[in-house]
Amino acid sequence: MSSNNTEQTYWWKYGVVYHIYPQSFMDSDEDGFGDLKGIIQKLDYLVSLGIDAVWLSPIYPSPMVDSGYDITDYKNINPLYGNIDDFMQLLAQAHSRGLKVIMDLVLNHTSDQHPWFLESRSSKNNPKRGWYIWEPPKLGKKPNNWMTNFGQSAWTYDSFTNEYYYHSFFKEQPDLNWRNSELRSEMYDVIRFWLELGVDGFRLDVINLIFKDKHLRKNPIGFLLSKKKVYNRNRPSVCEVLTEFRSILDEYPHKTSVGEIYSPPPGDPDLTARFQGNGSDMLHMAFDFSAFFSRWSAKAYYEMIKNYYQALPKDGWPCFVFSNHDLGRSTNRWMFSFYKIEKAKVRAMLLLTLKGTPFIYYGDEIGMENVNISRSQIHDMYGKLFYPFYKGRDAYRTPMQWNSQINAGFSKTRPWLPVHKNYKTINVENEEGRRDSILSLYRGLIQLRKKYTILQYGDFEFIDSGNPKVLSYRRYFENKSIVVILNFSNNSEKVEISGLRDYSYLYSISDLDNCDDTLSDILVLKAFEGFILSSK
Ligand code: NOJ
Ligand code: MG
Repeated sequence: MSSNNTEQTYWWKYGVVYHIYPQSFMDSDEDGFGDLKGIIQKLDYLVSLGIDAVWLSPIYPSPMVDSGYDITDYKNINPLYGNIDDFMQLLAQAHSRGLKVIMDLVLNHTSDQHPWFLESRSSKNNPKRGWYIWEPPKLGKKPNNWMTNFGQSAWTYDSFTNEYYYHSFFKEQPDLNWRNSELRSEMYDVIRFWLELGVDGFRLDVINLIFKDKHLRKNPIGFLLSKKKVYNRNRPSVCEVLTEFRSILDEYPHKTSVGEIYSPPPGDPDLTARFQGNGSDMLHMAFDFSAFFSRWSAKAYYEMIKNYYQALPKDGWPCFVFSNHDLGRSTNRWMFSFYKIEKAKVRAMLLLTLKGTPFIYYGDEIGMENVNISRSQIHDMYGKLFYPFYKGRDAYRTPMQWNSQINAGFSKTRPWLPVHKNYKTINVENEEGRRDSILSLYRGLIQLRKKYTILQYGDFEFIDSGNPKVLSYRRYFENKSIVVILNFSNNSEKVEISGLRDYSYLYSISDLDNCDDTLSDILVLKAFEGFILSSK
């Protein structure tokens, strides 16, 4: 298990991944937007945090209708962020510090400004016509009732050739046709391009959407006349492409992939698992969104984790993510968010002791919060379109809070989105100096995970502590084990777990100094306390 070779191959199982939103991490050239050189400046911080890999949201050229998830050139870098030399620098500097780099890959759609689409729409006979999904009107109307993720028709009429094209998201993001073999091989070429440059893996954007029903069957009507998304996602052919994708990846040593398989609340771990195949022939990992939708209670988390582990294929590897650029910061997830800091700490201990690769959204390690964005500050097109019913996703894409200086140390110029007004206290510099900060807890736990490798690859089982407000589990390998006990409640709670006499304290959320050296089977945890115990 501990041989170097295994560690190298399975870095993605045993390491911690940090998700960077490039626009908001660090601005090096003072234009108010984060950039690659800014990320390079902060690599030492990432190393000090102890993470093993970064995932960068898309950095390709893009008109930024959807913040870079609308690409015009898959083999280049958006000038907003730098150029390919900067990227090579970033890669080299990251690698020299032992950090891996995961790219975001948007295979489902391009920008409508991508030269492929410009060609495709130019005439029905264009060789690239078939790279996108074009349909003639059906009796003068849209081809069917498929809707975008935001509830508008997914078909846009193009008067140039009098046909409709299909888009799962904005009309500026036409979907590609994965049934077209030329398109497919072009995309495989893109994948090889980045692998050859040395990137370590990919996060695959909305990968379960890449195929839509060949016969364009209508989606059934569901609750409140909504259309259930049956025929325009999760088609079996997705698995076929993932198998091909995996075999390309496997030609290069030590690569990884993680798929975004969104499903609406309460989430659907079985669906997520489907795209991991037998555990080694499709995605290495896939995000299970039920972790986002869980209620705040030990019981709800127990159910969520249990269902997820159960759904995975035998050799499939889990991963956990609690915040991202689409669904918001977990700090503000629960209505009337009392005990924000306490809950963030419980979540940190959970994330870093579960079996499965932890993904940390930038800023979560200091407890960053959603920012109140006024109408005039909205960047996200969804916010512009649906205000005031939906304000978009800017609130949780705001600049990283580095210190208490101007613009939280992110930029000397006014940043593209406002900094949270709490930045004078919630910032890296301030939290580095405090033993009881969220940042110190993240650091401590990541180091612990490094040192006690059972936390990385050990098996997992729940423990019944007799108290439903407390979540407890055991990680074990051979004859060693580690027990984690997390109090989700705002009261002190008692648990009883037999055999604890054979354990000793390793870590606690509040402070180990308060812990007795000797353990008995009955333990009392303060509100939002968490313990990590190790077998002697
Ligand atoms: C998922 C991405 O995470 C999101 O930000 C984007 O808008 C859609 N996919 C479309 O690419
Ligand atoms: Mg900049």
